[in-house]
Amino acid sequence: MRISTAVLICALSTLAVAGPVEYHQSKFDTPTDKLDHDVQKLLDSLSLQEKIGQLSQLNINTISIDSWSMNGLNKTAVEYYAETWGIGSFLNQAQDNTTWLLDSKGYAKLVNEINEIYLNKTKHKIPIIYGLDSVRGAHYIKDATIFPAGIAQGATFNPSIVEEANKITAFESSTANVKWSFSPILDISFNKLWPRLYENFGEDPYLTSVLGAAAVIGLQGKFKTDDTKIAASLKHYIGYGGTRTGQDKDNAWVPINYLLDYQVPAYRAAIAAGAATVMTSYSAVNGQPVSSSKYLMDTLLRKELGFKGMVVSDWQEGYYIQQHHYAVKDLYNAVIAEINTGTDMSMTPTDTDFNVFLLKAVKEGKVSIDTINERVGRVLQLKKDFGVFKQPIVDLESKRFEQVGSAASAEVALNAVRESVTLLQNRFNVLPYKSPKKIAVVGPSSNDKGFQCGGWCRRWQGVDNKSGFLEGGAAGTVADLFVGKGHTLKEGIEIIFPNAEITFVEGTNIYGNETTDWAKAVAAAKSADFTIIGAGEHHYAERVGRIDNLDLPQGLINFINDVGKASKASALVLFEGRPRTLQDIPNNVDSILMAYLPGPYGGIPVAEIIAGKVNPSGRLPLTYPLAPNDNNHNYWRGHDQTYNQYAVDHNSYDGPDGVQNHVFAEFGDGLSYSTFNYSDISLSSKKLTKNRKITASVTVTNQGPYDGKHTVLLFTQQHWRSIEPEFKLLKGFEKIDLKVGQSKVVTFPIEADFFRFTTFDGKPALEGGDFTVLIQDKATNFTLIV
Ligand SMILES: *[C@@H]1O[C@H](CO)[C@@H](O)[C@H](O)[C@H]1NC(C)=O
Ligand SMILES: *[C@@H]1O[C@H](CO)[C@@H](O)[C@H](O)[C@H]1NC(C)=O
Ligand SMILES: *[C@@H]1O[C@H](CO)[C@@H](O)[C@H](O)[C@H]1NC(C)=O
Ligand SMILES: *[C@@H]1O[C@H](CO)[C@@H](O)[C@H](O)[C@H]1NC(C)=O
Ligand SMILES: *[C@@H]1O[C@H](CO)[C@@H](O)[C@H](O)[C@H]1NC(C)=O
Ligand SMILES: *[C@@H]1O[C@H](CO)[C@@H](O)[C@H](O)[C@H]1NC(C)=O
Ligand SMILES: *[C@@H]1O[C@H](CO)[C@@H](O)[C@H](O)[C@H]1NC(C)=O
Repeated sequence: MRISTAVLICALSTLAVAGPVEYHQSKFDTPTDKLDHDVQKLLDSLSLQEKIGQLSQLNINTISIDSWSMNGLNKTAVEYYAETWGIGSFLNQAQDNTTWLLDSKGYAKLVNEINEIYLNKTKHKIPIIYGLDSVRGAHYIKDATIFPAGIAQGATFNPSIVEEANKITAFESSTANVKWSFSPILDISFNKLWPRLYENFGEDPYLTSVLGAAAVIGLQGKFKTDDTKIAASLKHYIGYGGTRTGQDKDNAWVPINYLLDYQVPAYRAAIAAGAATVMTSYSAVNGQPVSSSKYLMDTLLRKELGFKGMVVSDWQEGYYIQQHHYAVKDLYNAVIAEINTGTDMSMTPTDTDFNVFLLKAVKEGKVSIDTINERVGRVLQLKKDFGVFKQPIVDLESKRFEQVGSAASAEVALNAVRESVTLLQNRFNVLPYKSPKKIAVVGPSSNDKGFQCGGWCRRWQGVDNKSGFLEGGAAGTVADLFVGKGHTLKEGIEIIFPNAEITFVEGTNIYGNETTDWAKAVAAAKSADFTIIGAGEHHYAERVGRIDNLDLPQGLINFINDVGKASKASALVLFEGRPRTLQDIPNNVDSILMAYLPGPYGGIPVAEIIAGKVNPSGRLPLTYPLAPNDNNHNYWRGHDQTYNQYAVDHNSYDGPDGVQNHVFAEFGDGLSYSTFNYSDISLSSKKLTKNRKITASVTVTNQGPYDGKHTVLLFTQQHWRSIEPEFKLLKGFEKIDLKVGQSKVVTFPIEADFFRFTTFDGKPALEGGDFTVLIQDKATNFTLIV
């Protein structure tokens, strides 16, 4: 599927991003800012307190029996929040105390019961809308399908996979009466230390735009008539990925031109694809809290990006205007600032102080009733558009429950992994390993679906087989929280190599500071023909994932080096959410497969790639730094730009580039078992004007020896520009599938609009001049005349 400019380019009036995917307006609905007549009537009939209730979103633990929401709903509490406050929405993972995870029917019962109480006890019978962080599938729902993390989805360079995964997410969530997902995540991170890096599609604005739009279409589609659709929420608007230190929630330092040119484009594309809601970021950008910025919340979001849907805050973000950013005197003024600036619904999320403050603010004339009406109108229209009024209570006998977590959905997750795993090194062509004899499987990540999955997987922080999974110190035994779904790497190897003699020794723990079985693992490696090492990061989310050194833990590096050196041939499989720097590991292992955080379905596809049953086609969606202090490299920033500006050979995509560029591997790197040969680039014209686009074509041939998928990437370099041009910037990509000997012509449009950028003082600009087009190892030049 190619993303054409048909729909999205119209929204690209000021910024430098090529237009994505061919989605025709007929394929999706978009929110409108005009209220339906019945919604307006309902709005007019509400009291001020009821209106404010619609603007308030509470955590599930406010209405459950205990604070970890494991013992069911507290009906008295639901009645209280319904009758007294008319709370408009609830969110977050609900649990029970026997299976720990609610399945789709469990959520449906829960939301049904809340809505029954709302229908029974409130005058206007406005149901709630329930929201979950279904960021990689509805992973909190026990029977739902869990997909690879965003970073791995980015590595597929395949919008159809992202769209399909989100379609399944929407189907499974809506079946569970959860009509809202706080996804997709569209942040562009500047620093590789950031513990939220893995939630995003990578560091490129165009890739993130294309995949973000695909995710929105998958979740929402024709939401006004299709009851298998749910509302998306683009997050985290805006600048969150610009954390200066890389630590989570550290304020963002982002020059306005870089904010507009790198971080905004994906929001523009996803808004054009119909996104119904946007979530505000925790950040202050250059000291300005996003939630209290008239420019970011109104001028940019509403006027320039044309967003017509509803804005929800992130967790407690309204209060943070005071508590975290100290931008106002007290919480009362924080709520006033939040609502006056542009947030519609506040994820408060555990008290009704927000409601009390807002009531007072309206009475004191600090917030106008028109502002309240505008915000409430958006919430009510959203509920109508996503079928909440029509179907507040879902049928618990529906056949749809049987289709949640189906084998067909699991296949989409497996394919996502197959297309994301990225081969970064393959010395002596040790891969594929096709003659199964004696295999050693070692390393702490090699038999744990939890470490394969990372954070935002079953639990906020993720799970693993050692430390259990219960937050808040609650007791519990480790059950198989993946309910049989998927396979660990070791299990995958066992299945794909049924005739091999396989020895499994973990050898050390995830930090590499447990040594009891270390020597055993080295011995196993020594006596095997092939050693597979599963290693990487502990699971984490947000601030808990803080690190101060991008290197893998020293003990783990030592372990990998020891088993690597002892091996006859080896493959290191990295399960990590950040590109943790590797020191001298690449010298001590033969091959390196970046698996990212593939989730429970990671085991089989990685084994298939090792065996050569699947030809690897993933490509790095970000720069993999060489050393910890290279953590601020983004490929477009142009490291050593003076030396490399026009040096085409620097852009070889065929593997790690080594020391001179301070990167271990570049954006777009990723080896195949086959050689893909490119013809010279043919340009339809050497002159590009504002009114006439040109095309660039190449013929790509699979010279074998394996059939395989392959992503063709088109970059451009502007030779000079008043704002230093990017070293190079992705302007097109297409994933193709070629049998051995087969060729395909791949054609990309190039339009003047692709080269719009923002000046230092924040103004849109376009400057003519000479450009180079780069596709794989080929290059050619054209001139833009403006
Ligand atoms: C249920 O909620 C009510 C009202 O908030 C509260 O007083 C009561 O203690 C709660 N009961 C339980 C068992 O949590
Ligand atoms: C589990 O929850 C049920 C209510 O759903 C309650 O009756 C029971 O006491 C709870 N058990 C534990 C161990 O908390
Ligand atoms: C709602 O009211 C109906 C009719 O009175 C009753 O049968 C039902 O149990 C109530 N639902 C809840 C969740 O209280
Ligand atoms: C724990 O290990 C068992 C046995 O290998 C496996 O079936 C299960 O999926 C693992 N659980 C997690 C959380 O990885
Ligand atoms: C291993 O490292 C982890 C993470 O730094 C630490 O929490 C733990 O205490 C260490 N264990 C030992 C045995 O040193
Ligand atoms: C690429 O493939 C074509 C067709 O097989 C062949 O003519 C050409 O020489 C090849 N080029 C390279 C650089 O291998
Ligand atoms: C493109 O332009 C650069 C810079 O002027 C020049 O060095 C290079 O040779 C040109 N490449 C082609 C293919 O014409």
